[in-house]
Amino acid sequence: MHFNRKFGFSTVAVLVLLFIITGCNNNTENPKTVNETDEHITTELAKDAHSFSNPNDVAVTHMHLDLAVDFEQRILHGSVRLDLDNKKDSKTLHLDTRQLHIEKIELDNGEETKYALANDVEYFGQDLAIEILPTTKYVTIYYKTDPAAEALQWLLPEQTSGGEHPFLFSQSQAILARTWVPCQDSPGVKFTYSARITTSPELIALMSAQNGTTKNENGVYEFTMDQPVSSYLLALTVGDLNFQSLGRNCGVYAEPNMVEKCAWEFTDMQSMIDSAEALYGKYAWGQYDVVVLPPSFPFGGMENPRLTFATPTIIAGDRSLVALIAHELAHSWSGNLVTNETWNDFWLNEGFTVYFEQRIMEKVFGTPYEEMETKLGMGGLKHTIARLTEEGNADDTHLYLELDGRNPDDGLTDIAYEKGRFFLQTIEKAVGREKFDAFLKQYFSENAFKPMNTARFEKYLDDHLLKGDTALINAIQPKAWIYGPGLPANAPVPQSIELDKVEEQIEAFMGGKKASELTTDNWTTHHWLYFLRGLKSKVDTEQLADLDDAFGFTTSGNSEILCDWFQHCIALEYKAAYPSMEKFLTSVGRRKFLTPLYEPLAETEDGLAWARNVYEKAKPGYHAVSKNTIEGILK
Ligand code: BES
Ligand code: ZN
Repeated sequence: MHFNRKFGFSTVAVLVLLFIITGCNNNTENPKTVNETDEHITTELAKDAHSFSNPNDVAVTHMHLDLAVDFEQRILHGSVRLDLDNKKDSKTLHLDTRQLHIEKIELDNGEETKYALANDVEYFGQDLAIEILPTTKYVTIYYKTDPAAEALQWLLPEQTSGGEHPFLFSQSQAILARTWVPCQDSPGVKFTYSARITTSPELIALMSAQNGTTKNENGVYEFTMDQPVSSYLLALTVGDLNFQSLGRNCGVYAEPNMVEKCAWEFTDMQSMIDSAEALYGKYAWGQYDVVVLPPSFPFGGMENPRLTFATPTIIAGDRSLVALIAHELAHSWSGNLVTNETWNDFWLNEGFTVYFEQRIMEKVFGTPYEEMETKLGMGGLKHTIARLTEEGNADDTHLYLELDGRNPDDGLTDIAYEKGRFFLQTIEKAVGREKFDAFLKQYFSENAFKPMNTARFEKYLDDHLLKGDTALINAIQPKAWIYGPGLPANAPVPQSIELDKVEEQIEAFMGGKKASELTTDNWTTHHWLYFLRGLKSKVDTEQLADLDDAFGFTTSGNSEILCDWFQHCIALEYKAAYPSMEKFLTSVGRRKFLTPLYEPLAETEDGLAWARNVYEKAKPGYHAVSKNTIEGILK
């Protein structure tokens, strides 16, 4: 391991590294608390408008989950023990809960205590106020989840690839952890955890923790996560999954009939890890695995520590969509080590991660590849800015968001991701890559296992990089990027020779050339996406049919290409593609692909009727996250 000695490390980072070096302790009876000695716990956290909890008074330092998985009733049933650091001799512990059924709550040695569950607030759930004593060391909550718990998706065997076994996965980000574990559901609160999960023996349980690679005969799985994590990173999946190693410290879990294919797709995982470490320091979590979930997973990927959850729609068969792995891996630094303190600071997680992802992709796949992704990213960002501005939501184009009282999901747009990336690129350009890389490396190591907020980041940037240099500050304009609308005037203009070639072909096609005569040799997914986006609102139905004949878009196996193609088909009511689109909408639950299709469909009477009909069929396969969004569109 090589660390940059100059910079020094916080106590926590050193402790954590010690754990990694000495091997982690698996004793769940006497859980050690890495953060007992952590000075950040004594620092006040910013008020989190999306949590009822009171971590500045009393903080959860460790969690032990003991849950049985009941596929019949679609519930988790058992208990959670929370170890407390009662800093202010508080008599009440406030926890976040939603849709939970609390049975009883005990203090330390088993005496039951009183609690009050407040009324439900939309999105936020119910404040659980537990009576504790200043001397209380831990509380144990006995509870059940609800079959409708929003974080959990329970799948029937026929909704899996193998078709024989049921499947369960969780999705806790942003504020859904509270629907399966009563907790301080605020990203600024970090705790270690351990767990015991009981399920049927033909299934394996995996968590965002140290995992086994094979099934246990008794169906009992024990987990430890010895490094402090935020509640939104609590994750569980249970299914018929096999493991295949992909290198020194990485591998993939997938259903048995898919694991080979997934392993082939993710061949570059170890080089991604090595490249990431070369950029911004040692990977802090030991093992890095990816589990490929059934297609109803509502996101592309989720950076659960040690175990990224991923959609099968990135298994394109040509490795063209693996940037998503680089992205989730990058979160092992930006997000999982240095964590947005509240959801208003979400860009600190995602903007940094897109920037980091881009740097990994450049190293592993080369500059032309990276340039295409970056230029596509700018296209998406401009589109999002235009839409939000048109809708009268220009405030939502600021990096720092005001999400108080709103669903934090509202912040899940290209702004946090792409505007965040281009802000960091702007700094990189102004100070030079070498300086910026040293800055980021120090930022990740000094702030590891701590929350970060926008104001503290600004100060950190100034203290370590800008140092009051007015010329530099004027060149970068941090305030305009963070607190201003749209794209500041100094935004980079991405260049890509590869995509310039695509532009020539778009021109030729618009000038009357037949699709089959276009020069598209060696085009990759990114060329095609740029091509399809460049033709938006320019082509007529005949041209669409010509394109389909020449390139077979309707029957493409690539989910990204299909999603862009179907948008053309909807705009021109190109009915030849509708059966294929119906198949897509009923087999894929990734929200990013559903919204851009259901939205334009809902704009015409016929489209809306068709979409409602398809949605009824598709609904059982969608996760609550996707259902909520689509029902909002179709209502
Ligand atoms: N952490 C996000 C997913 C997320 C964010 C879930 C907020 C819930 C609330 C994850 O890292 C992510 O950004 N996934 C993207 C893929 C990425 C390549 C842009 C996705 O799911 O599409
Ligand atoms: Zn992300």
